[in-house]
Formats: sequence, C-alpha cells, structure tokens
Amino acid sequence: MARPKVLATHRLFDPARQNLQENCDVEYWEKPERPPREEVLRRVNDKEALICLLTEKVNEELLQAAPKLRIAANVAVGFDNIDVPACTKRGVVATNTPGVLDETTADFAWTLLMAVARRLGEGDALARSGNWKGWDLDQLVGMDVWGKTLGIVGFGRIGRAMARRASGFQMKVIYTDAVHATAEVEKELHAEYRDMNVLLAEADFISVHTPLLPETRGLFNAAKFERMKRTAYLINTSRGPVVNESDLVAALESGEIAGAALDVFEKEPVIHPGLRRANVVLAPHIASASLETRTKMACMAAKSVVALLQGRPPANVLNPEVLKA
Ligand code: DGY
Repeated sequence: MARPKVLATHRLFDPARQNLQENCDVEYWEKPERPPREEVLRRVNDKEALICLLTEKVNEELLQAAPKLRIAANVAVGFDNIDVPACTKRGVVATNTPGVLDETTADFAWTLLMAVARRLGEGDALARSGNWKGWDLDQLVGMDVWGKTLGIVGFGRIGRAMARRASGFQMKVIYTDAVHATAEVEKELHAEYRDMNVLLAEADFISVHTPLLPETRGLFNAAKFERMKRTAYLINTSRGPVVNESDLVAALESGEIAGAALDVFEKEPVIHPGLRRANVVLAPHIASASLETRTKMACMAAKSVVALLQGRPPANVLNPEVLKA
C-alpha cells in the first residue's frame, strides 16, 4: 500500500526522522539555507502532510498549491506564519509545539537580560580586541540585576518560567496579561498583577512573552517607551513585530530607556541598523535553540503528522473544528 507523502522543509533531527521514516514517505529539504518559496510550493503539491518552520508562510497561496494537504505541523510554538482560518476552510489541520520550549526560552531571556545589564557584549569585544589595558574602577559598569523589579508582559508558560527564575535574584516580579493568573500561581511565583502602564513605570527590566496577534502588533511603541524608566531595559524573545523597532531606536537614541536585548526582529533576518548600538544585545532568534529542545520540537511535529495520517487525533491542534467535521 502506498505510504502517505510528507514534505519536511528542514532535515529535522534523527529521532523525528526515524518516526517519520517508519510511517510515511518523506521528502526533506536538506540544504542549509531555507528553501525558496517556489520550491516549497512545487514540492508540497502531491503531499498529504507538511512539516514547516516559522520561516514558511502557510497561507492561501500554499494551500492552493497543496490540494491533498491534510496537516501543516509547525516546528514552533508561535504560529503567526500560519493562516489558521484558511487552513480550517480547506479542512487542513494545523499544529504547533507548545510546552517543550518554555524553560529553554526563559533561560535565554535571562541570558539576554544579564548580558545587557552587565554589558557582556561590550566586555567580550574589549577582551578580544587586544586593547584591554587592565582592571579599572569604572570600566564597563553596568546595572545590578539582583533586587530589582522584573516586569513580565504576557504571563503564559514562558512568562511564568521567566518569573520562577527571578527569585534567585531576589527580584520583585510584576506581570501584565489579558488574563489574571490565579491567586495560587501568583503566590507560587511571588508575582503581582499590574496594569500595563503601571508595570511600565515600575519595572527595571521588562521581558516580553506575548504571542503576535493583531492586538499585540506594535504593542511596544513610542508611547510605551515614554512611560518606562530611563534606567529600564527591554528584553524581547517573543516576536519581533510586537516591538516597533523605529520607535525603539528613537527611545534608545534619546536615552528614554537604558537598553534592549532582542532575540526577534520585525523583518527577520533584517535588523534595523539603529539597533547596532553598544546598549543593545542582539541574538538571531535562538531562544529555544538547545539541541534537546529543538529535537523535542521536531519530534512533536513528526508525532502530530504520524498521528493524523494514521487516523488518530494529533496533539496541539490549532483548529480542532477540522477534526470534528
Ligand atoms: C517559537 O517556537 O515560536 C520560537 O520562536 C522558536 O522556537
């Protein structure tokens, strides 16, 4: 019997490949660079399943090019690259990979926070330059992290993992979210709810953990930066378009905020040139990039595909109504 055909736009990792290999015929995009759009559209044409990355848009154009498609499995928790209603209309199940990357992403948000506060980028550059003249009292003095106030915007799984780590630094944790956490969660994480404007005024470090939605696009703009402390830092590991980069550059230039540390950008892989500043730490969207976590994400997507193709409901379905139809 013919096995179902799957397109994976990345070679994935061995455990994920193994699961797929036992159950389907998979065509992998094996090259190191991301596949050109035309290639994806051409290759997906006869496939029942697609395993894609956040760099591929699963939209009307792709769905039209894939008349046999039954599932699009995103190897990411964020799914702003997927037009879920369009998938639903065509009866295509869409899945993502929540849960497995929370701790790893929070680790990295902390890495960025520490790096920008303690000027690690500048220190590393100086140490490597051959120009370091030795210890000096006011050399690369940064900002203390311990004992400060951490403001978390978006208090889902990753925001909470971020909060959990703050107690080791004796920090006060405040958060804002459309939904209040339960009193139990607030108590466990020593976190207090604040309205956005109050959080902006109180926090020394603001870490963003919201998904990209119409209501969060451009959430951090000139008006928000104006409300932040001049000594405060912005850390973003969510999605680039949540921050208006031109407004951020203006706020950094005018000294309205002290600095920023960013893993995500408005128009990846393009980075606003104004962000290449000493008080900004830049990373190329790697917050979940540990081998363990990225392997789990790939395995999760593979498992969803295999489940659906074998007639079982996959986990993490973004449009469960398709399964009920
Ligand atoms: C995601 O999963 O959405 C991240 O941005 C990549 O891990």
